[in-house]
Amino acid sequence: MINKAFLQYKTIKILAPATVANIVCGFDILGMAINKPADEMQITLTKNAGIVIKHIDEYNLPTKPEENVAGVALLAMLAECGEIDFGFEIIINKIIKPGSGLGSSAASSAGAVVGANYLLNNYFSKHDLVRFAMHGEKLATGVKHADNVTPCILGGITLIRSIQPLDIVEIPAPSMFVTVIHPQIEVKTADARQILRKEVSLKDAIKQWGNIAGLVAGFFKSDYDLISRSLEDVIVEPVRSILIPAFDLIKKKSIAAGALGGGISGSGPSIFMLSKDEVTAKNVEQEMKNIYDKIGVAYYTHVTTINNEGVKIEEV
Ligand code: HSE
Repeated sequence: MINKAFLQYKTIKILAPATVANIVCGFDILGMAINKPADEMQITLTKNAGIVIKHIDEYNLPTKPEENVAGVALLAMLAECGEIDFGFEIIINKIIKPGSGLGSSAASSAGAVVGANYLLNNYFSKHDLVRFAMHGEKLATGVKHADNVTPCILGGITLIRSIQPLDIVEIPAPSMFVTVIHPQIEVKTADARQILRKEVSLKDAIKQWGNIAGLVAGFFKSDYDLISRSLEDVIVEPVRSILIPAFDLIKKKSIAAGALGGGISGSGPSIFMLSKDEVTAKNVEQEMKNIYDKIGVAYYTHVTTINNEGVKIEEV
């Protein structure tokens, strides 16, 4: 039972980082948090039961708790709090555009549960928080995947060995820079999952297993060449990349500019590339911009680094 003496009836500010799910070959099992962009939220523990959600951004997202990704994550959390006579008020300012492939829904649900838990004197473990935040992903995409919410909560690069039961492995990685280009089209994760083939050939599966194992080993060993060789997806990328303007050209030119490799961020349309150093990451950004400028696609770019902290809390 929650010890009511430790409840903190106050307001805190939250920064919830964007995440790059899949990291190319690890569909639904690998993900990493990045430092830019990040959603801003404020959360208050109140003496009134219930959840009140306000959005102060332009996206017109639902505010009923049962229809809002942060709301359903909090409801899942409250369901495990026992008898409750308190509630939460949340103000969300989405900086991560919904449908960008940068874990926008995950940032809302992860940010909400981390913030709420802090006000409950960290009653729940981080793994519990991942379980709650996955309810938001289920609402947003139809499937309870954890490859965005886990790195958003824990920071760094994470492997979801299993979601049922939840088995999370934190993966150390060498210093890397991340270049992201976000073409201004929306790809709904649910649609990008719908188009995937439901079966894979043994030949493709073997190639994919080799790449996932190689990528994880490359991160552990800080072996940039192994990381680079392993950033290959023979199963999901060939299907999804057709939804993204000039995907193949961007990938080819980024690698020619020195990127270790990269691919679709989450379910797209954002594309990300990893580089060893900032100069290369900026050259990669320029190559990407040149391509979209030439074909007239509007975009945003970010050159950033891996966020090792996860959701950040600030006292107001
Ligand atoms: N692993 C999920 C997918 C992430 O690729 O569908 C969605 O952001």
